Amino acid sequence: DLVDQDARRREFLAAISHEIRTPLTAIQAFAELLEMDRTNAADDTAMELVGSLKGGVHRLRMLVTDLINLGRSGTLEYPVNPADVDLPALVERSIALMRPAFLLRGQELALGPMPDTPHVLADVQLLEQVVLNLLANANRHAPSGTTITLTTRPAEHDRVLLEIDDQGSGVPLEFRERIFEPYFRVPDAVSGDLPGSGLGLAVARRLLHQMGGRIWVADKPEAGARFCVELRATVTRGAHAGDRATV
Ligand SMILES: Nc1ncnc2c1ncn2[C@@H]1O[C@H](COP(=O)(O)OP(=O)(O)OP(=O)(O)O)[C@@H](O)[C@H]1O
Ligand SMILES: [Mg+2]
Repeated sequence: DLVDQDARRREFLAAISHEIRTPLTAIQAFAELLEMDRTNAADDTAMELVGSLKGGVHRLRMLVTDLINLGRSGTLEYPVNPADVDLPALVERSIALMRPAFLLRGQELALGPMPDTPHVLADVQLLEQVVLNLLANANRHAPSGTTITLTTRPAEHDRVLLEIDDQGSGVPLEFRERIFEPYFRVPDAVSGDLPGSGLGLAVARRLLHQMGGRIWVADKPEAGARFCVELRATVTRGAHAGDRATV
């Protein structure tokens, strides 16, 4: 009914606004870094930053185009276009986009091992949103001087796992499901005055669900959070072994 439709419209608007803000944050970080470095703005680092900055702007423009098209069509769901996605390559693109935000907070962003990772069945745009949301969280919730590590690997039953590890406060056991509810935030994050609306993980879980994937918080022996994303492999294990064996 109408009330239902109105609730869904508001939920959708909140979600898409969240997705627009994520690349904006990255773009702002690029601008700040470039400003600090303005004495030798033509050096290699600056050029690299400008390259990634353009990536962020491109991403933002695509999101806004999507939004306009969705407004025209009147649907409140993102269209999902599942295709063959090279996950390690997507991870590297996401890292490039977020690197300035991590530099600004004095955090290190590291690529962990990515052994023989098969391609996955996913919507490349939506999956990139998920990874960006997780990186934005690690950037915000882990302290400076720490390292955030991304790892991919094949899992059982033709699945592929992406893990994002940080060395922050972690997520207390009793909140590990609730953080995926819209607007829920761990009380410490609220009392610590960390910015955020509590939407990123709810959006991530919904997008992954639409792609036949899953997301959860795993236990880990050391301190910090470990977010796991599981996706379907498009090719069976080993089919891509030749691609990466010599890298
Ligand atoms: N890497 C992390 N370490 C510790 N706590 C986390 C981490 N990621 C998420 N959380 C907790 O989960 C809550 C929900 O995360 P979510 O991404 O949905 O919202 P947010 O980051 O607070 O705000 P938004 O994403 O809307 O800007 C966070 O407020 C925080 O309490
Ligand atoms: Mg978030």
